[in-house]
Amino acid sequence: MKSLLKLDGFEITYHEKSNRIINIQIDDQIIDRLVFPFKKFNITALEYKPFTRFTIAKSLDETTSNKLSNFLNEIIKDRDTGCFIIGPKNKSSKIDQTFLVKLSTAITHLIGNPNHDSMAGKYYARFHVKHEDSSDSYLRKAYVNMDLHTDGTYVRETTDWILMSKLEEENVIGGETALLHLDDWEHLSDLSDDKIGKQNFIWGSPKSKNIDYKVEHPVFSNLLFLTSINFLSQKIWIKDFFYKDYLTLLRVVKIR
Ligand SMILES: [Fe+2]
Repeated sequence: MKSLLKLDGFEITYHEKSNRIINIQIDDQIIDRLVFPFKKFNITALEYKPFTRFTIAKSLDETTSNKLSNFLNEIIKDRDTGCFIIGPKNKSSKIDQTFLVKLSTAITHLIGNPNHDSMAGKYYARFHVKHEDSSDSYLRKAYVNMDLHTDGTYVRETTDWILMSKLEEENVIGGETALLHLDDWEHLSDLSDDKIGKQNFIWGSPKSKNIDYKVEHPVFSNLLFLTSINFLSQKIWIKDFFYKDYLTLLRVVKIR
């Protein structure tokens, strides 16, 4: 088990459901210290001037004498963990949507430079999940379960990690986020050892994503003897009926 860092102004614990996930709660004293540096740039500046994103990332890291960036990178680059949940411990009027966009920006830029999001035309995408939806993707549908998938299946850039932030929640009950660590998947070797799992598929996306090309890659690949997966049933372009059983099997596998 990963040893947890002691960091002034942060409460760091294992997630109650899995030791692979680290919970990081930010105390009020740190939030207070971020208010001023975060005000130096508005959202438009962050969008138009990439270096400003690194400036607010630095402000966040400085509240911990630069220990936070190391810790976050250690968590996500370790195959045994790979996930953290971070956020303010308490709600307050200082923590509005703008603050949360800035906080998310700061966290991501302690890790790397985000891929351009073609749907939003920015370094991040922001959208509502509403009661009714007529879009061409499952992303915004409140009452449809998301199937097992990874992100970045249909773009040329590699998607190493993804950060999601909840900015507001109104009139909502229920709902669940399900994450499956690849090494905890009892079907992994069956599906990845199958020759179809290493065969190239064509992946494309619906109109709203604004990607005008398709990409080709297999579902499973091996990187440094570790298996990785890149799969999303909605984005696959079937050219051969033979694949269907295999893909249906992948799609219906239940997340425990
Ligand atoms: Fe996703």
